[in-house]
Amino acid sequence: MNQTIKRRIGGTTIVACLIFMFIFAIINNLPQYEIRTSSSAEKEILDDIGIAILVDWKLKKAMEDLISGMLPSIKHFKPMHIVLFSESDVSSDYQRRVRQVTNHTIHFILIEFNFPKDFDVNMPSPVKKSNRRSKWGYMHMCEFWFKHIWHNPLTQKFRYLMRFDTDSCFLNQKYKLEYNDSLVYLHGLFTWEGAYITDLRKHILDYVSKYNIEPKNPAMFKVIQDNPSKLPMYYNNIEIVKIAFMLKKEVQHFTDYMQATKGQFLYRWGDAPLRYATLALFSKPTEITALDLKGSYKHSCNGGY
Ligand SMILES: *[C@@H]1O[C@H](CO)[C@@H](O)[C@H](O)[C@H]1NC(C)=O
Ligand SMILES: *[C@@H]1O[C@H](CO)[C@@H](O)[C@H](O)[C@H]1NC(C)=O
Repeated sequence: MNQTIKRRIGGTTIVACLIFMFIFAIINNLPQYEIRTSSSAEKEILDDIGIAILVDWKLKKAMEDLISGMLPSIKHFKPMHIVLFSESDVSSDYQRRVRQVTNHTIHFILIEFNFPKDFDVNMPSPVKKSNRRSKWGYMHMCEFWFKHIWHNPLTQKFRYLMRFDTDSCFLNQKYKLEYNDSLVYLHGLFTWEGAYITDLRKHILDYVSKYNIEPKNPAMFKVIQDNPSKLPMYYNNIEIVKIAFMLKKEVQHFTDYMQATKGQFLYRWGDAPLRYATLALFSKPTEITALDLKGSYKHSCNGGY
């Protein structure tokens, strides 16, 4: 008698459990779909750090520089992914030659430059005619490094991105990639921009007061505040950037705000003073540090600075 009751209770419990698990699985499955997509996207991470290079309009020179200078100079790096962004097609012959000189994995990515919304392309360019291939090419490149690169699907397959120029290289094999998870930015040398900064400081300060921003890096912000005729920047032809930082909501908000001013096109604002401002507002002092290049980085490799 006792046994039967026990068995019956046991049976009911098991059935109840099954029903509960079934409902739980259904409910749980709905929101989990999203979680699964994002974790499967995470699995597509190619590497912790990749190298990004924007090939400018002197395509042939860029390829020759890569083949003879840049790529051989990083052969001591662990095997890496190197992403070559360019606005025009790299011939299959150059693709083959580039891949021949290196064991790193090379990706050739075609990009398309677009103008800011409602931009009047007929207005005068802020860059002198002698200094350019196309009227807006330079401004497009600056905007790419300020905003668009962080949204590229391939970029997002790395956690950090090291930027490099086609004509840069390392002269000896002393430099090793060194960064850690607590850092969002590793910077090059500090300098000032005095030329192409029309209204830039004003827009940064306007943004801070309009949105009540409390700069996370007060010392860096003070340098912006205290110098009305020039703006601080780090040379960023070499830099290591945490991608998740650039994609943070507040960083994107600032980026979009600055982009909406069209200042990069109207006044040729460089991406370097914009990067400095971004770091001053949104990165903590402990999150940024200088690249320790051990004196071996050279830009440009074939002479120049
Ligand atoms: C690529 O790796 C192989 C095997 O380690 C090595 O023999 C070769 O020299 C490397 N090539 C380059 C271009 O570094
Ligand atoms: C990360 O690197 C910075 C700068 O070199 C250093 O100050 C910090 O202690 C490092 N943090 C960790 C967790 O290694």
